[in-house]
Amino acid sequence: MSWIDIGALDDIPVAGARLVKTHHGCVAVFRTAEDEVFATSDACPHRGGPLSEGIVHGRKVTCPLHNWVLSLETGEAQGADEGRIATYPARIEGGRVLLDVASLCRRDAA
Ligand code: FES
Repeated sequence: MSWIDIGALDDIPVAGARLVKTHHGCVAVFRTAEDEVFATSDACPHRGGPLSEGIVHGRKVTCPLHNWVLSLETGEAQGADEGRIATYPARIEGGRVLLDVASLCRRDAA
């Protein structure tokens, strides 16, 4: 893994998200109410809604456009909806949020 520092945890609102621009495209980075972080692709599998503008609840996000619910852990759509988003390893170290850039590079290769 190859971790990059993408900013302070406190720059992400609690139960919110931030869109992070990397050399390998935009990544939505979510912070749960329990101060966990998850990184996923930003585009909803339904019609590409911006998930970083969605509502975070538990370890899930609700898309702001048509309310699909996606797991931040697995990327899977919940309930009757089918589809998934890419998920990327993210962690917190010393109040900073780190993202595994190697996983983003693999996305480029796919
Ligand atoms: S674009 Fe996300 S639910 Fe429709």
